[in-house]
Formats: sequence, C-alpha cells, structure tokens
Amino acid sequence: MSGQILLLSGPNLDLLGTRTPEIYGSTTLAEHVNAFRTRAEAVGYSVHAVQSNFEGDLIEAVHAARETSVAIVINAGALTHTSWALTDALATFEGVKIEVHLSNPAAREPFRHTSTIAGVVNGTIAGFGALSYVLAFDALVHLLESN
Ligand code: DQA
Repeated sequence: MSGQILLLSGPNLDLLGTRTPEIYGSTTLAEHVNAFRTRAEAVGYSVHAVQSNFEGDLIEAVHAARETSVAIVINAGALTHTSWALTDALATFEGVKIEVHLSNPAAREPFRHTSTIAGVVNGTIAGFGALSYVLAFDALVHLLESN
C-alpha cells in the first residue's frame, strides 16, 4: 500500500520524555515518531509528523492533509477536551482518522473524560503508553486496506 499518513501531535507533547513520566512514560516524541515511521515505511506508507503547541497550526495541518494524506493519527493533547475548531477541521478530512492517547483519559480527572474529536474519528486508542501508537498504526492499516 502507499500514501502519506499525517501524525499530528498537540500541545505539550514536545515535552514527552521529561513531562510527568509516571503518566506518559520516558519515551520522547521523536522516538514515538521514529517507531511509527519505521513501521509505516516497512509496509509502504510515508509519514509526515507535525507537532505544535498552537491550535491554528494543527488546524492548518489538517487542511493540508486533505490534499496530501490518506490518513491522520492524532494525539491532540489537552485540545482533545476543548477544541471544537480542531474537531470541525478533522470532520472535513475524508480519509481514515485515529485518535490516540498514551494515558487513559477516562481514568483521570473529569475534564479529560470528554473528547470533542471522538465523534469525528474512526476510533480511539488510549491507555497503552508507547504501545498506543503501535496499536493505532495497526488499526489504521486495517481500515485503509479494508476500504
Ligand atoms: C494525552 C491525554 C490528554 O488528556 C493530555 O492533555 C495530554 C496527553 C495522552 O496522550 O495521554 O496532553 O493526550
């Protein structure tokens, strides 16, 4: 199979590795991206990785993906719980969309229990630490190849 996957990371995920490692682990974002890219390239996909602490940058990356990508894997960080604008942007993307979280937001503070984006993605994988990205990739390939 072929095509580009947008791997989108939201606010504070640039701090992975040192940010509350007891919750998010000690793996850096670059390491998550590399592992995801290696897996994707092994089966013919390319990966465009974008991280931003700014909501508008993430929205613009989704807009660009409408022309360039077959799928989006998104960890929107805390914007998961608040951003109707990012949700609206994702709704315009017609390819496969997977929401991913390292932690399990449903088992944490009440403000993390709502995901505005959950309703516009194919599915969500959360709570498996670094394995969440691997599982998200496997789910993504399954959906792309059964379409
Ligand atoms: C997160 C969970 C969010 O609630 C939090 O704001 C993050 C990381 C996760 O990967 O577990 O920044 O998306």
